[in-house]
Amino acid sequence: MSKHTKKMPDHIAIIMDGNGRWANKRFLPRVAGHKEGLNAVERTVQTASAIGIKVLTLYAFSTENWSRPSDEVHFLMKLPIDFFNRFVPQLIEQNVRVVTIGTIEDLPQATQNSVNRAVELTKECTGMTLCFALNYGAQDDLLRAFQTIQSKELSEPITKETIAAHLSTHVLAPFQAPDLLIRTSGEIRLSNFLLWESAYSELYFIEKAWPDFTGDDLKQAINHYMHRERRYGGLFKGGK
Ligand code: FPP
Repeated sequence: MSKHTKKMPDHIAIIMDGNGRWANKRFLPRVAGHKEGLNAVERTVQTASAIGIKVLTLYAFSTENWSRPSDEVHFLMKLPIDFFNRFVPQLIEQNVRVVTIGTIEDLPQATQNSVNRAVELTKECTGMTLCFALNYGAQDDLLRAFQTIQSKELSEPITKETIAAHLSTHVLAPFQAPDLLIRTSGEIRLSNFLLWESAYSELYFIEKAWPDFTGDDLKQAINHYMHRERRYGGLFKGGK
């Protein structure tokens, strides 16, 4: 049997980094990078869905991003509205279901409305699940999970499954854990993204900034993944 994985990843997660630097290099305001980033989201969703990826999770706004200048935060809060206004018909056509992770309730009402509408309009879609991490932080998500578990005063001992079932990514089950985690723009860190779920993810870092990310870059990352060995701490046994 081949030493290589060969199987396509079911779940790909992406840290879309480098929008600000992309804009700075072009003497544009940072928000121009975020705006261009939406086109990269469209390309990536289209490619991932066309090649049969089951779950694509995109880190759109972290619990730490609130500390950016208020103009930028305001702009970032408008991005989901622009995106869904433009692309919901296309998502439905591609049979893509939108879900979210993170504390949506703390987003501005107009952003929440737009996100909820996209979730509602695509809920019957049976193709790829497109998960936006919005106001998401893995430590925050774990903390909430532990608090909920504690409040339930369970009689059974807590297991890894109990924890996984209380994380917001549970909506992605049976593909809760990303097989492949990509970060653009050359930074080699996880930045509080899917810390529990990425325990055995293959990590892929690309120098390109997010606005320049293409469908071919995604395919290259997948190809790289398919030639890696996944051992889950044990010895190679073949398969995924
Ligand atoms: C990181 O770049 C990017 C973000 C904080 C925002 C990413 C969001 C999108 C591309 C669009 C999201 C789309 C929807 C539909 C919600 P950065 O600003 O940290 O770049 P820098 O490190 O170069 O400053």
